[in-house]
Amino acid sequence: MADRYLLAIESSCDETSVAVLKNETELLSNIIASQVESHKRFGGVVPEVASRHHVEVITTCIEDALREAGIEADQLEAVAVTYGPGLVGALLVGMAAAKAFAWAHGLPLIPVNHMAGHLMAAREVKELTYPLMALLVSGGHTELVYVTEPGNYHIVGETRDDAVGEAYDKVGRVMGLTYPAGREIDELAHKGQDVYDFPRAMIKEDNLEFSFSGLKSAFINLHHNAEQKGEELVLEDLCASFQAAVLDILLAKTKKALEKYPVETLVVAGGVAANQGLRERLAEELTDVDLIIPPLRLCGDNAGMIALAAAVERDKEHFADLSLNAKPSLAFDVFDN
Ligand code: KG4
Ligand code: ZN
Repeated sequence: MADRYLLAIESSCDETSVAVLKNETELLSNIIASQVESHKRFGGVVPEVASRHHVEVITTCIEDALREAGIEADQLEAVAVTYGPGLVGALLVGMAAAKAFAWAHGLPLIPVNHMAGHLMAAREVKELTYPLMALLVSGGHTELVYVTEPGNYHIVGETRDDAVGEAYDKVGRVMGLTYPAGREIDELAHKGQDVYDFPRAMIKEDNLEFSFSGLKSAFINLHHNAEQKGEELVLEDLCASFQAAVLDILLAKTKKALEKYPVETLVVAGGVAANQGLRERLAEELTDVDLIIPPLRLCGDNAGMIALAAAVERDKEHFADLSLNAKPSLAFDVFDN
């Protein structure tokens, strides 16, 4: 059979990214233009700034992705694009580019859910077997997703308040670290001890829900009280204590999900899946399951993961026409527990 090629575009937050996928899982290119330098001084992503940056670089990213892949537009079979969840203005830039490209070259569009992209990045590691459980941890989401077959995603548990990456970034700001703070906190945590005893919300409750706002508040209170009293806090210990609480929660709920939904495969994906502490704990404690975590380059936002999810949709002939709209709050189906 002839080789099949897909172009994929991702612009849901602060990365403009375009990838070319060959057949099912071979990424020929995955260009990522990060805007993080522009958002750092604001301590978070500024939506208007994000949209403007996407507009500036999207065309070059498409050209670079095709050039690096050594592929001409007329060899492509379809154009995949993230249509949600994400920032509406940011999504619209990628979608306008995808639609224009699809129209100009007579190609079908494949709409992709950003979180399905994070999850399906695991396809690059090895062939997935179904049903599987996924723990998705990013800046905007924290959810347990039961995947019954390729492309069929069901949320079985999620956060009631903050996402885990968001909590990392917020406590990072309190400690004066630069945005996004997850990676630095992870590094500092490895040099400290869990001495501050932060709360592990809902850890004993028999459900698959997460909550990180209480942990965030406890952290902020400790920090402010120490500041007022002129007490010194040890940065490495603060990071180690915060990370220990986060990991205890993530591990406890993931174990519960695996009890409730016995599966052979666990995928852990999203920006926070880059966390070394999380990777160590998962490998140590979840030895009965085939643990698949995408490589670091596919954990943060990128179009390669969108292409890997799109190949599944292509095989199901899930195409869209040019009336496709952005869905900023796009969600997976929810399974009743
Ligand atoms: O998936 P992602 O790139 O963007 C969203 O879709 O949200 O995730 C970004 C998040 C940020 O909150 C960042 O602080 C966090 O992932 N992150 C980490 C690590 N690397 C990135 N969190 C903890 N440990 C890390 N090593
Ligand atoms: Zn993401």
